[in-house]
Parts: sequence; C-alpha cells; structure tokens
Amino acid sequence: MIKIAPSILAADFAKLGEEVKEVEAAGAELIHIDVMDGHFVPNISFGAIALEAIRPISTLPMDVHLMIENPDQYIEQFAKAGADYITVHVEACRHLHRTIQLIRSFGVKPGVVLNPHTPIESIAHILEDIDMVLFMTVNPGFGGQKFIPSVLPKVEALSSMVKERGLNIDIEIDGGITAETIVPCVKAGANIFVAGSAIYSKEDRAAALQEIKRAGLA
Ligand code: DX5
Ligand code: ZN
Repeated sequence: MIKIAPSILAADFAKLGEEVKEVEAAGAELIHIDVMDGHFVPNISFGAIALEAIRPISTLPMDVHLMIENPDQYIEQFAKAGADYITVHVEACRHLHRTIQLIRSFGVKPGVVLNPHTPIESIAHILEDIDMVLFMTVNPGFGGQKFIPSVLPKVEALSSMVKERGLNIDIEIDGGITAETIVPCVKAGANIFVAGSAIYSKEDRAAALQEIKRAGLA
C-alpha cells in the first residue's frame, strides 16, 4: 500500500479550498502542509491559519511539515488547528525527545524529518517514540526542485532498521516526486509520497495523481 500526499504549497492560494477538494476526490490519502519560517529555510509560506481554513473542507489526515526554528513554540497552535501528523526537523530540535512528547501530548502523531545530508543515526534512538520518518529528497524551502537520488541508501537502511526492530513507522519522501522518481523510493521501502508541483502544475490533477500512484504500485 502506498499513499500520496499532495502539498498545497504548489496549489492556487486564491482557491485553496477547491484545490484541496480536488485532490481528495482524485484519490489523495493525506494533505501535506508545508510551513516555512524564513529562518530554518530561506522562504516563508504560511502558518496555522491556513490549516485552520482547510481542516473543515476535507476528511483526509493533515500532514504538517514544520520547516521552522523553535517548533515547540508552535506545536499547540498546529495541533488545535487540526493537524493529524506533525513532523519536525531533527536539525531544528535541540531536545528532540521533548518535542516528540509535546506533539503526542496533544493527541497528534509525531514524526521526524531529515535533510538530504543528515544521517539516520541521528534518529536511531527515537524510532520507538515516533510514527513517521520523513526524508527530504530536495533541500527544503521551495517546491519544484530536482530529486536528490543519494538519499535513497538512507531510506533503505532506515527501512531495514524499522523491520529489524518490528516497528510500525511510516516512511515518507518529500521533494521532486514524479511518476519516475517514486519508483526507486518504493523499492527503498518508503510508503508515503509528497507531491507538489507534479500534481498542482498539471491541468488534470486526478490524472497526474493517479499516474504517480500507478507508477509507485507497478
Ligand atoms: C520543500 C517542501 C516540499 C515541496 C514539495 O521544502 O517540503 O513538500 O513543496 O514540492 P515538489 O513536489 O514540487 O518538490
Ligand atoms: Zn514538505
């Protein structure tokens, strides 16, 4: 089973509600929410207010990707705005275990994100406490960038670690996902795939989403 999580970062913000409904009808399994603060990443997107607006529009799980410094300060806001998953960057968390517990204390599923260069050893001792690992396959900050294939061996290694320990953790990939790049990611053991521009830049979003899913299942 693989799941597709369209990123609303690539959607038309003038009609965000319709953009969410469209990908839900097209068979999306989660909605990916990219939050950028202009400090952790060199770009600003939006805060919890956007999540609050689309939460009542869709029944899909809201997958909140925090690309921000000091995430602890904003977790409650995003939990109250309706997040189902909150993922934080290991590079932004000085006390990662505390941050994960904080996310869980609001009944939200916690996950950890790794930048392309960050080794999986940085999360080896927290796997038992989290529901998701998100691998960045671009440098975070912008949609529409090129997939970085050197991340794949990390995905494979983490997937083996998860199996060996008998854990139930989603492995998500984010950045440059297309009907081509999804194939080696599935092979490496990932099961959730973020796609921004590959879906929202297309006229027919349903066809684009289904093409990516079919390629991943083949
Ligand atoms: C990058 C974001 C991604 C991005 C994906 O900083 O975390 O979620 O929007 O966009 P595409 O699929 O266009 O690479
Ligand atoms: Zn993202």
